[in-house]
Amino acid sequence: MIFSTSATTAQGATTTTAQSQPDGPLRGLVNATIGAKLLMALSGLGLAGFLLTHMAGNLQVFLGPEALNIYAAKLKELGPLLWVARGGLLAMFVLHVGLAFHLDALARSARPVRYEFEKTKRASWASRHMMLTGALVAVFLAYHLLHFTLGATHPDHFQGVDLAGRHDVHRMVVLGFRNKFLAVGYVLAMGLLAVHLSHGLESLWRTLGVSSKPLVQLARRLAIALSVALAFGFAAVPICVQTKLILLEGESPGAVANMDNGGGR
Ligand code: HEM
Repeated sequence: MIFSTSATTAQGATTTTAQSQPDGPLRGLVNATIGAKLLMALSGLGLAGFLLTHMAGNLQVFLGPEALNIYAAKLKELGPLLWVARGGLLAMFVLHVGLAFHLDALARSARPVRYEFEKTKRASWASRHMMLTGALVAVFLAYHLLHFTLGATHPDHFQGVDLAGRHDVHRMVVLGFRNKFLAVGYVLAMGLLAVHLSHGLESLWRTLGVSSKPLVQLARRLAIALSVALAFGFAAVPICVQTKLILLEGESPGAVANMDNGGGR
């Protein structure tokens, strides 16, 4: 049986190989590696699916406080279902990170196997720094959860309720992004996310066996387009808060005197 794999060497070259299925224990190792890559790709796809829905939900901030707060309240009303979804998300995240370390360790200790032919080309910066960009996105995520989900970093922003008694998520987001450092930090994190996702989505297709040149090119373009669209969709919120296109309920741009302390609130 002929199959192909690709790997990135420490020198930054992507090596694509077509190999005949090895025998004995090596066969088990190759199969385990392909299985791990497949799980890695599928968990990444699941996480990207979450990001798409999360971004679409966030964009409701442009519809005003009521729309965003109702959306957030409806999510909480899902009760046990929400916890099932959170559990699934956490499982995908743990699997994705765990497999990243596993595959990285395997790649470092890889022994040469029989090649029928070998093709080497320059690997992109994104492909050579997946562990770094992934780790930085994980650091961002830890801060993000402390910020918006647990309210640990800015408890004063987190405690607000709107006139209907719902958690005032709109106010929390607007006051949060009035802090310039936070807004810039989020935008930079979205850039890193786009870099990480663009290579992840592209290699997903390779893992699934897409190898013809036009299809690989199409997969790369789609991966870049989707990653950039996601990053812009997320980054639009801090950018529009900083440029006063998103304001608190009943507020006018001139009334926002000092962005860094929440416009005097
Ligand atoms: C500017 C960009 C973003 C904004 C404005 C934003 C906003 C929010 C808000 C307001 C919440 C809390 C919702 C609530 O409790 O009602 C939240 C939760 C969350 N966000 Fe984000 N988010 C952004 C980007 C991201 C990114 C890039 C990721 C992943 C890498 C992410 C992952 C999460 C997760 C996992 C939760 C917890 C969901 C839950 O509680 O079940 N967010 N986000």
